[in-house]
Amino acid sequence: MSEPSPTGEPLLVERHGDRVVATLHRPHKRNAIDQATIDALHTLCAELEAAPRPLILTGAGGVFAAGADIAELRERRAADALRGINAHAFIRLAELPMPVIAAIDGYALGGGAELAYAADIRIATPSIAIGNPETGLGILAAAGAGWRLKEIVGDARAIELLLTGRTVKAEEALRIGLVSAIHEQAALLPAAHAIVDRIVRNDPAATIATKRVFRAPRDHHPAVDLEAQAELFESPEKFRRMTDFLERRDR
Ligand code: COA
Repeated sequence: MSEPSPTGEPLLVERHGDRVVATLHRPHKRNAIDQATIDALHTLCAELEAAPRPLILTGAGGVFAAGADIAELRERRAADALRGINAHAFIRLAELPMPVIAAIDGYALGGGAELAYAADIRIATPSIAIGNPETGLGILAAAGAGWRLKEIVGDARAIELLLTGRTVKAEEALRIGLVSAIHEQAALLPAAHAIVDRIVRNDPAATIATKRVFRAPRDHHPAVDLEAQAELFESPEKFRRMTDFLERRDR
């Protein structure tokens, strides 16, 4: 059984109409991701699958997440590993129809880093410390680092990071494209909202198609792109937006 958070729910969810902000909230455990957090992530995913909106994912108390909960991990056995408890939750999050933005302050380690890798866009503060120390604990990073990290930073950097288990700080994270921007702590959430402000001005159907097509396997291109475009070419919103543009220019 997961230890209840003395501060309440492990994931605080704020609904803002056109977007949702979810805050990992086990500050007494540096937001370590336990089963209750995973359950809450699944519940949130179900909501965002049914009613797609962009998601901002962040952490409480100056930390994103210091990993999977090591107290729970220590007790897990082979059958638990094969269930892919964290891997499947992070895949579901990555596959949400609308974009996921990770706003990362402080530690994003192990499973916390893998949760961040599952986001579409990552931004951070100068205090970010992100990496995968799993081999030091006698396990591997099996919840996404093995495939997503190389997609983000390339094979050579990914394998160096995974084999050393070292932590990447802000300047390097920005340089290698692990995060796309650094903002002071007070500016982090406003910056995440500014990204979402841009996204929600666009056509949601086009955004959903862009994310889905981008994530398709290489051998599905260009068919997957063209099929999605064929659908959008017939959408009333496409005609409305393009007519708006052309009529504005005619004025
Ligand atoms: N799992 C379970 N508990 C964790 C945790 C994790 N991943 N990370 C931190 N905690 C707990 C600590 O055990 C401690 O609990 P306690 O107060 O009951 O003893 C509490 O959170 C605070 O952690 P502490 O180490 O005292 O905080 P710190 O600010 O000095 O250090 C870290 C922060 C992140 C450097 C350190 O907690 C750490 O190394 N955590 C583990 C990182 C890791 O290996 N993650 C990969 C897991 S796959």
